[in-house]
Amino acid sequence: MPPTNPRPLTSGGRLLRVLAPGLALLLGAGSASAQARRAPAPDQCVTCHARLPETSGAGHGFAAWRGSPHAKAGVGCEACHGGNPAAASAAEAHRGVVRSGDTASTVFFARIPATCGRCHAAEAAYFRSSVHYARLRSDGHGPNCVTCHGSMATTVLTPERVLGTCSACHSAAGVASVGKSREAAQVLALVRATSVLYDVVSTSAGARAAGTPARARTLIADAERHLAAAAEVWHSFRLDSAAARLNAARGDLVGAWVALGHPAPRETGVRIPARGPR
Ligand code: HEC
Ligand code: HEC
Ligand code: HEC
Ligand code: HEC
Ligand code: HEC
Repeated sequence: MPPTNPRPLTSGGRLLRVLAPGLALLLGAGSASAQARRAPAPDQCVTCHARLPETSGAGHGFAAWRGSPHAKAGVGCEACHGGNPAAASAAEAHRGVVRSGDTASTVFFARIPATCGRCHAAEAAYFRSSVHYARLRSDGHGPNCVTCHGSMATTVLTPERVLGTCSACHSAAGVASVGKSREAAQVLALVRATSVLYDVVSTSAGARAAGTPARARTLIADAERHLAAAAEVWHSFRLDSAAARLNAARGDLVGAWVALGHPAPRETGVRIPARGPR
């Protein structure tokens, strides 16, 4: 399994992911890709579970895992469930595997952030600073990683799906305040729009044979700093400060675009107004 090296900053709007491994190192833990490299080769969990009928209900099985980014990165069943993937018999392999309903399980809902956080250290650290984590620990009424990333833990929410996920709790009938879901969907749209703008501007800068003007370089570096700071939005849930960082990044990128000799763009981007009373 080749290491998943940071992709070029210009690929596919995934700037935040590219910056995340650096944050993880700063926080003193291994990056997701470094952990994945240690995945053992002959995987008996996968070999045996591939032959089993699919699990129903909340559970998942081989088929869901096979198509996931975790499978592609060599992250096996044991990364989340424990057990011994080198053992061919179920009894041996399952030593240490405990059903999710049991408080001792690595996938018991309140322990999920720690399990995922072994590899996703930056997201887990931000999440631990959130009101959500405090509520998860105190009364169970906070989301855990799987609430938002799905039971196979491999999907990333789109702005469209944010509304539904958050309003499971943030609604008139739910356990949390109304209004957060809409705000979150707007900030997520801004995340996406700013990543695309970053790609366009940095590609344009990279394509210049004559070299990038110093002013454009400075502004692009500033935008990178703001985007890195905004990456905590989903996991610490400080939506206001994330929106401010994203708007600042957007301003820098428009400045860099003009410094590169392009005409100033029309104001079409998504903008989050300062928060009013609710
Ligand atoms: C309340 C919802 C929510 C919770 C809880 C949550 N996340 Fe996320 N997470 C998101 C959203 C939304 C995104 C997508 C942000 C984006 O597109 O930039 C995301 C993105 C990610 C990404 C991918 C970043 C990228 O490059 O796109 C990882 C990895 C991740 N989360 C891990 C975790 C872990 C680990 C936990 C638990 C400690 C967790 N998340 C808890 C909503 C959540
Ligand atoms: C030789 C076949 C075999 C191997 C190897 C195997 N499993 Fe299983 N596993 C099963 C069967 C069959 C079930 C259905 C429940 C049962 O009867 O134990 C199961 C159930 C499970 C469950 C559901 C929890 C439960 O107790 O019902 C999990 C989680 C699981 N396996 C994870 C793993 C992991 C992780 C590995 C590798 C470390 C692994 N399995 C290796 C056959 C296997
Ligand atoms: C990224 C983490 C992750 C990976 C990888 C993973 N699982 Fe799971 N799995 C979970 C979580 C979390 C649950 C708890 C139920 C839920 O919320 O979806 C779970 C639940 C299950 C269940 C239902 C039984 C229970 O304990 O609730 C089965 C069966 C299962 N997993 C099998 C597998 C098999 C087989 C593989 C590999 C092919 C695998 N899982 C890979 C995280 C993972
Ligand atoms: C053994 C390490 C490991 C564990 C444990 C782990 N992951 Fe991952 N995860 C990875 C790797 C490696 C990737 C793929 C490389 C990348 O994109 O960072 C990944 C990718 C992801 C993504 C991005 C998916 C996308 O569509 O871009 C999300 C979200 C995610 N993991 C969430 C979780 C959650 C939630 C858990 C716990 C239930 C978890 N992971 C457990 C290593 C791990
Ligand atoms: C499982 C329930 C649950 C889910 C799902 C959930 N939340 Fe929450 N959230 C809570 C609870 C409980 C609180 C604390 C009480 C409150 O503020 O209403 C909270 C508080 C918040 C806060 C206030 C944080 C602070 O520092 O004051 C924000 C912002 C927030 N949630 C955003 C979101 C977003 C965005 C989503 C969806 C991506 C989401 N929540 C999904 C339960 C949930």
